[in-house]
Amino acid sequence: MAEPVILREVGLRDGLQMVKTIVSTQDKLDFARTAAAAGLPEIEATSFVPPHIIPQFADAAEVAAGLLKPMGTTISALVVNLKGAARAFDAGLRKVNYVVSASEAHSLANARRSTDAALAEFRLIVADRKARGLDGQVVLGCGIATAFGCTLQGEVSEQRVIEIAESLARDGADEIMAADTVGYGSPRQVRRMFDGLAAALGTLPLAAHFHDTRGLGLANVTAALDAGVRRFDASLGGLGGCPFAPGATGNINTEDTAFMLEALGFDTGVDITALIALRGRVEGWLPGERFSGGISRAGLPKTFRRAMDQAA
Ligand code: COA
Ligand code: ZN
Repeated sequence: MAEPVILREVGLRDGLQMVKTIVSTQDKLDFARTAAAAGLPEIEATSFVPPHIIPQFADAAEVAAGLLKPMGTTISALVVNLKGAARAFDAGLRKVNYVVSASEAHSLANARRSTDAALAEFRLIVADRKARGLDGQVVLGCGIATAFGCTLQGEVSEQRVIEIAESLARDGADEIMAADTVGYGSPRQVRRMFDGLAAALGTLPLAAHFHDTRGLGLANVTAALDAGVRRFDASLGGLGGCPFAPGATGNINTEDTAFMLEALGFDTGVDITALIALRGRVEGWLPGERFSGGISRAGLPKTFRRAMDQAA
């Protein structure tokens, strides 16, 4: 049996937050349903941030409502404050992903509050989940943005990232994700960071979020795999980037990441050919955007076999 790796598709959130075109709600639902049918186990489908800050997500509640019917895929959304979390709980989502920036400068630019204030805000979100009787029903994932460095502040200390993770874990996070928001991370640093997080957090699930800004995205995935990480964010066609982190560019590409994981013998459950077809449609919706990736251009090798077939 091939060991599973969970890929979370973030193209509808990270991927859409900087593009010029507002994608229709119908197209977003089509994207999510097609990605779910292609086997992606989790889809971060939208972001509950104020529409005046990111107009792309003005339809967050409609997108969530359109995806409530069980599809065998976890539908989650990003939130940056209590109000966003309350909107996501109201929408009936079973997973909500909160983000804290490890860099003070990015925290102030992105969420208009210090990192410590963002950690305090998380306690309010956990209390709100409890007050609504949703403990055990709604999973709270926590992402630590700029965990590997920041284009505004420069260095971010590994010790600070671990302190933030410990605070979130103590307060009720169900999953901790370290995010390389601006593509500063490199494999040795990634290995050390996840070894440190695993030592500090014990059995709490760890996830990784990489941007391929400087070409090290997939190398960083292998380093995180070596540290035991089995959950990764990726974006169809490699779209993505934080509007409040200067110089940010796209995420690691879902098609290429799935290809590499399968080639390494991990079972992603993903039908890569179906993803390539979806990517073709999404490219049509977003003229002028930069898509990345090798597999969609060159095709799967004739010698390719999915991990679950390799052992046979
Ligand atoms: N959804 C909808 N409206 C919201 C909201 C949310 N999640 N959070 C705040 N608002 C509204 C408030 O009700 C208020 O409205 P009003 O002026 O009509 O009263 C207004 O937005 C300002 O609220 P405030 O709490 O003062 O927010 P702020 O100006 O301090 O900004 C954030 C804080 C977190 C809302 C803002 O920095 C933000 O949305 N950041 C997200 C950035 C992002 O998406 N980054 C990329 C992913 S990490
Ligand atoms: Zn990102």
